[in-house]
Amino acid sequence: MLSCAALIDQFLGELLVSVDKFTLRVGGVDRGKAVSFTFNGRVLQAFAGESVAAALFSQGIRTLRSSPATNLSRGMFCLMGSCQECLVWIESNKQPSCQVPVAEGLKVETLGYREVQHE
Ligand code: FES
Repeated sequence: MLSCAALIDQFLGELLVSVDKFTLRVGGVDRGKAVSFTFNGRVLQAFAGESVAAALFSQGIRTLRSSPATNLSRGMFCLMGSCQECLVWIESNKQPSCQVPVAEGLKVETLGYREVQHE
């Protein structure tokens, strides 16, 4: 009989083996249909039902804005809508990307990208 710690190690080992090293997506999970959306004009792939933040993270995008005070990179932090660190333009609204489900054709832009595009 395995101890509780051994069971957890076994479970995590199986889980880690099936993680895609680029997207960090766990294998063996039922996902929504594949969708395309744009991020700062670049076409990206995601799965319906993921948040915009999760879709961006899976594509290696970690920086969503910079601090106005220090100019340091900022990105997803709480992933539950509280911190606002993941604020982006989604279509015509500024929204926390962790709270918006990705959808086919969605247009997502960082605050900085939108400023430059509309100067
Ligand atoms: S990560 Fe905190 S609000 Fe989105």
